Order: sequence, then C-alpha cells, then structure tokens
Amino acid sequence: MNRPIAVVTGAGSGIGRAIARELSRRGHHVVVSDLDLASAEQTARELDSAEAHRLDVTEPEQSLDLARGVRDTHGRLDAWISNAGISKMQRFVDTSPSDLRRTFAVNTEGVFYCGQAAARVMMELGRGGVIVNTASMAAKQGRVPFLADYVASKFAVMGLTQAMAFELAPHGIRVNAVCPGFVATPMQERELAWEAELRGVSPEEVQRLWVNDTPLGRLQTPEDVASAVAFLVSADAAFITGESLSVNGGAYMD
Ligand SMILES: NC(=O)c1ccc[n+]([C@@H]2O[C@H](COP(=O)([O-])OP(=O)(O)OC[C@H]3O[C@@H](n4cnc5c(N)ncnc54)[C@H](O)[C@@H]3O)[C@@H](O)[C@H]2O)c1
Repeated sequence: MNRPIAVVTGAGSGIGRAIARELSRRGHHVVVSDLDLASAEQTARELDSAEAHRLDVTEPEQSLDLARGVRDTHGRLDAWISNAGISKMQRFVDTSPSDLRRTFAVNTEGVFYCGQAAARVMMELGRGGVIVNTASMAAKQGRVPFLADYVASKFAVMGLTQAMAFELAPHGIRVNAVCPGFVATPMQERELAWEAELRGVSPEEVQRLWVNDTPLGRLQTPEDVASAVAFLVSADAAFITGESLSVNGGAYMD
C-alpha cells in the first residue's frame, strides 16, 4: 500500500472521528481505533481507506499489538494520533481516588503507552514518523471549573509531549500536541449538563459563558481541531516538534 498509514485512538466519536476523516481526505489509510468497536467501525465505514480495531488505551499490550499488527500488515506506520480521553466534572474536594486514577489511566497513561508502542515500531521500521497527542486548553491553565483531575492529567500530557519529542528526535520522529478549547462533541454535551448542575444555571447559560469566553465568538468544531492535527502530521510541520498548539479561538492565549 502506498498511502501513508495513520492510527487514531478514540476515533469513534467527536474530535477523533473528525481527525480520521481529515487524514483520510488528505490521502492516509486510517486505522480507526476506539474502546467502543461499533463506533470505530461506524467511522471506518465513512472513509475511503480504513480499518477498525478495538483498543483500550489503558492496556499497554493492546497498543503494542495494534502497532505491530499495522507494521506486519502494511509494512509502515507514519502517524499515530493519541486522542482518546475522558472527563467527569465534579468539585476538587469531591473527586474520589478511583475517579482520579481512571482519568490519569486514560488521559495520561494511555498517551504514554500509545506513544511507546508507536515509537517502538517507528524506530524498528527506521523511517521516522509523527505522533500527535490531544491535550487541551486545560493542559496550559488550571482556571477551569470542576475538572481538577482532568487539568492535572492534561498538564502531564504537555510535559510528556516535550519529553517524547526530545528523546525521539534523533530517530526522525516528531511529537506534538493540540490543545483544543470548547469543542462541540459528546464529551461537551456531558460537560454542559454537569457544569449547569454544579453552577445551578441552565445548560444554555453555560454554553453562552463558553462562547463569551471565546474571542472568535463561537463554539469550536471537531473539524477545527482535525485540520490543526493534519497540519502537524504534514510535511508543512517538518521542523515543528515538542509544540503544544492551541486551537481554541483565543479562549486561552499563551
Ligand atoms: N470536547 C472538548 O471540548 C475538548 C476540549 C479539549 C480537549 N478535548 C480532548 O479531545 C479528545 C477527544 O474528546 P471528544 O470531545 O472527542 O470526546 P468524546 O467523548 O466525544 O470521544 C472520546 C472517544 O474516546 C473513546 N475512549 C474513551 N476511553 C477510551 C479508552 N480507554 N481507550 C480508547 N478509547 C477510549 C470513547 O469511546 C470516545 O469514542 C480527548 O482527549 C479530550 O480530552 C476535548
């Protein structure tokens, strides 16, 4: 197969699905993966050239199996997008040890293990590659209500992105992150309901606050994030590594 191969995690929904679509549109064969196989299959059916796999990013052996399977089937692995993530809004003082562990297991350890799997296979193949991690605006600022565990898990992703970029650069592997703001996805639907409940206002009011917080004046779309990821994957970003790129309509500027 001549197409470059890109693996996307959490690609059965929201931002991951949009990334899979955009990379496909730009000529990649996309390995669509998600904890929920049915949703991964749904994404893959929409694309020109794709395959669907169940992958739980908290299980390191599963990421390595998938990366090696891609190598064995296609003989190449060009890009890996570690996008899967979870959130649960609650007050800092109410966050349980099990919720904290789960958030870190998916958002931080998942990115770590997937990055290891991708890097090992890319190094074996010796052709370099690109890894993009989905972090968040909450990876750069903690002024975010009811998401203390999430903020901590995403700050870790930004540091990890830099450490990976530094160690993997000699192997021709670039590593960057994207930091979305308020993106209209199923995750956001859940957060609207939680934040409304916790603040004692309507979901419409919460949405209005989010839009008011965004200088470009609208909620983000998953496609806004997907085009930034596709840029980081592309040769146009050939000299960019270790960067955590804000894609948030100006909601947080650093
Ligand atoms: N929506 C936003 O406003 C927003 C903002 C900043 C960052 N993000 C980040 O973007 C990424 C995607 O978020 P989204 O809004 O598309 O969410 P989403 O809930 O719509 O989609 C997340 C996908 O990840 C999958 N997933 C969950 N746990 C998994 C696991 N253990 N292994 C593999 N897959 C798993 C889910 O099944 C789902 O398909 C996440 O990392 C999220 O933290 C989202």
